[in-house]
Amino acid sequence: MAKVLIPGSFDPLHNGHVDVVDQALELFDEVVFAVLVNFSKPSGLFGPDERVALAVDTFSDRSGITVGAFEGLVVDVASAVGADFIVKGLRTAADYDIEQQMAHMNRSASGIRTVFVPCNPEFSFVSSRFIREIASHGGDIDHLVPAPVSAALTDRFAGRGQ
Ligand code: PNS
Repeated sequence: MAKVLIPGSFDPLHNGHVDVVDQALELFDEVVFAVLVNFSKPSGLFGPDERVALAVDTFSDRSGITVGAFEGLVVDVASAVGADFIVKGLRTAADYDIEQQMAHMNRSASGIRTVFVPCNPEFSFVSSRFIREIASHGGDIDHLVPAPVSAALTDRFAGRGQ
């Protein structure tokens, strides 16, 4: 029984993240989807509770996944939830450059290994930052995010942009 941690900001969750979760659910027995936040410095588009609620809604039809908000080091979260591995999605070589350094740091700090999952090329250009930017100006991002996130973005930016 292998349990994995998928950590990230997920502000907001997009279809690339969903693809990585679905690949992890095929490869491993249990997934902990961890929204990493700094509770003392609330920032970002959606708050921790909103990000968790959007993920719970998005993954409501999957089994083997739990969602939560956590603070602190990824390795400490992994230890707290009993994860065997950290899973990270890779879109590009640029992602790999950053992620391999974090993977080595995390392994040297705690012994936990990171397993990289190549993202579906269909989503290789998708990022939360650009989702936020386009949505804030009233642009169409419906094809890039799960339906609950699309609705939340529309609600958040109602009356702005166009
Ligand atoms: O979705 P993001 O913003 O790329 O997620 C980055 C995240 C949350 C995984 C990263 O910032 C992180 O690991 N934060 C926790 C702090 C930590 O463990 N730092 C050591 C990294 S070697």
